[in-house]
Amino acid sequence: MTALASTEDFPATAQATYLNTASVALMFSGAQVAIDEWNRQVAERGTVFFDEVAEQEVFDPLHDAFARLVSATPNDIAVASSATEQLATIAWAVMPPAGTRVLTTGIVFPTTIYPFARVARHTGAEVVFVPGEDGYVEAEQLLEAIDDSTSVVCLSHVEFGSGQLYDLAAFAEKCHEHGALLVVDATQSAGAIEIDAPGSGVDVLITGGYKWLCGPFGASVMYVAPHLQKTLEPGLIGFRSNKDIWKLDVDYQDYPDSAHRFEFSTMAYGNAIGLAAAVDHLASIGVETIAAHNLALADRLLAGLDELGANVVSPRNAEERTSIVSARMPGIESAEVVKHLGAANIVVSPRRDLFRFSIHLYNSSDDIDVALESLRSLR
Ligand SMILES: Cc1ncc(COP(=O)(O)O)c(C=O)c1O
Repeated sequence: MTALASTEDFPATAQATYLNTASVALMFSGAQVAIDEWNRQVAERGTVFFDEVAEQEVFDPLHDAFARLVSATPNDIAVASSATEQLATIAWAVMPPAGTRVLTTGIVFPTTIYPFARVARHTGAEVVFVPGEDGYVEAEQLLEAIDDSTSVVCLSHVEFGSGQLYDLAAFAEKCHEHGALLVVDATQSAGAIEIDAPGSGVDVLITGGYKWLCGPFGASVMYVAPHLQKTLEPGLIGFRSNKDIWKLDVDYQDYPDSAHRFEFSTMAYGNAIGLAAAVDHLASIGVETIAAHNLALADRLLAGLDELGANVVSPRNAEERTSIVSARMPGIESAEVVKHLGAANIVVSPRRDLFRFSIHLYNSSDDIDVALESLRSLR
């Protein structure tokens, strides 16, 4: 099985066997070109290149690209610098009140829940962690924990530890039955898993750009459902939070009636332009095609790991599996496994006491075979 992307588009694939997208993706070369060009133009021409109109419109390419990717409209999308930042502005906007519960998993990536935990300490809401093991939680147990006292369910669409995938529509339905909001961190899914944001019923969906979207650090995107676009007051605000960003009057505060009300400041704007190029590239291949490719390679990896006697903790059922595969090797420390692979120029991550492979469009069956061969020599 060949890669879905050329070495021209992902030059680093020529230098290493890269199975570490869940940590940091290889960036699409077209994104790098767009960022470099934008930075060069600003450095050399300042506002002659980047005037007030250009700054007002600078997020448009990313609004358009991400909206297409998740079947939303550009007005549903807000841009910022990181997923953490966007989770923070939403957590302060939602302000789960005292006496209510914010529900998440005990194995979630800390960033996903920290902003809500911070706000909950302020308001007196309670954060409830449904426990899991080895990066896996029983989804049924999580669904059953949603009740009338739940104000927010804050969920990572794919868990970073095991790659476990949740059914967003099922969670949105249960949340809405009980008057709760569903806030989703899609940092480990967007770009690798098909997402229909409006169709799934999520209220908010946030992703950073430097993992499965194959973009740069320093750019992130957020879908905000239309019913929240006129009512939620952003937690973080600045001059960009206004309908007219150039009015610059301290007495003026008029948020756009769209997700754009959550865009509050300048940023390294070139990164947003680069991320738009990366998202367009993935869309041109098709996320459905990418997902099938990634899962086929994950199958090959799983077969090899089973043969080697590895203990795989990632789910294998069709509803919950992804191309993140975490395992341990009986009798060998996972850090040792990662080091051994690293010495052979095979890049994976240690996570807790597991080693984690993450497979994306630029990987091929050769990458999987090389990794398995290296593991065999470790045995
Ligand atoms: C699920 C999840 N959310 C968020 C992040 C980090 O977010 P950011 O760096 O964009 O703030 C990570 C990083 O590993 C992650 O796995």
